Parts: sequence; C-alpha cells; structure tokens
Amino acid sequence: MFLPIIFVLSFLSSSSNAADFCVGDLYAPQGPAGYSCKKAEAVTVNDFVYSGLGATGNTSNIIKASVAPAFSAQFPGVNGLGISMARLDLAVGGVIPMHTHPGASEVIVVIQGTILAGFISSANKVYYKPLNEGEIMVFPQGLLHFQINAGKSQALAFVSFSSPSPGLQILDFALFGDNLPTDIIQETTFLDAAQIKKLKGVLGGTG
Ligand SMILES: *[C@@H]1O[C@H](CO)[C@@H](O)[C@H](O)[C@H]1NC(C)=O
Repeated sequence: MFLPIIFVLSFLSSSSNAADFCVGDLYAPQGPAGYSCKKAEAVTVNDFVYSGLGATGNTSNIIKASVAPAFSAQFPGVNGLGISMARLDLAVGGVIPMHTHPGASEVIVVIQGTILAGFISSANKVYYKPLNEGEIMVFPQGLLHFQINAGKSQALAFVSFSSPSPGLQILDFALFGDNLPTDIIQETTFLDAAQIKKLKGVLGGTG
C-alpha cells in the first residue's frame, strides 16, 4: 500500500521540470520535431503567455481578412506540446481562401459574426455550413478548407490546431503566386491561360 506511494513521491520530487515543456529556442536549429529547448533556468511565465492575438488584424488586403498565428515560431511556449492557435478577422466580404494545414487538424470557434466554413474530403465530398457565434467546427488534418464572412458585419474567430506548427498552404497562392509556368499550370489544372495570367497578375506570380 505504502510502497507505491513512496515510489510516486520520490519520482515526483526527483524529476526536473525539463520534461514538462520545451519552450522553443528560436535562435537554435529547428528539426522535424520542432525547435530545440530553451534552457530551463531562462524560462519565465512570459514564455507561456502570448499577447499577439489580442488586437483586431489589418483586413485592408485582397482577401479582406487577416490571420494572426500563435504557432511555435510566434509563441515558442507551445513548442513540443502538440497544440497552437490563431486569430481570424474577416471584414465584410472577407475570406480565408481555400487552404490546408498539412500538419494539423483544426477547430474553429466563432466569437463574432457569421462565418461560412467548410472543407472537402479526400473523397471530394463537401461539408460546409454557416457558423454563428459560439459554434465550433472541426477541419480534419490536411484537407482543403475555407472560411467566408457570411454576415453584414465584421467577423472574429479563433482557431486551434493539433500541432505547434500546423503549416499553411493557400491553394491560389500555390498555383498562381509563384513562378510555375502558365503552360504547366494549364496542363495540370485544365484552366485556360487567360485566367491563369489574370490570377498571376493579382497574386504576384510570374511565368
Ligand atoms: C493596413 O494594411 C494596409 C496595406 O498594407 C496599410 O496601407 C495600412 O496602413 C494598414 N493599416 C494599419 C492600421 O496598420
């Protein structure tokens, strides 16, 4: 009866907090598992607090929306913990364009406004619905998904991820925001050249 308790107590008192967390050292090399750990004696409460999601993002841009990430690169406290967050602000008409997070599933919670959110399964089945304040929706890892402000006022949502570095790839930027030649895009997407050139012009692509 007593032996297991003594064992647990001695284990607890002998273990250092080094195993509790691994605050990312952004100046040390980063590997596939994340950042190296900041020295434990240099860690303070401020490593576990991030204030960057408090302010409304700047939505004066082509998508009329902003994404403020609290991934391990911005918020090193989540390094190694398998979680992170972001803030989405969508002005009227704003959209977070079709995108994927290769490394994480995502949950959105709508705080203000109405957001039409959806994803496309790998079987190409479409799941979408307008979400009102307080509603949440989950987007399974790696699948294409989107969020659109479906209301007549500013919308606000927070999202959480099952990884400290979910990654973000926006479909239109992947196709039209780089130097992949128009003829290759045409061959691989069946879009016409004029539409490709137009989108390259809008999204900063060349070729
Ligand atoms: C928002 O972004 C636009 C475009 O980059 C910029 O011109 C404007 O000054 C920014 N507004 C604020 C309040 O930072």
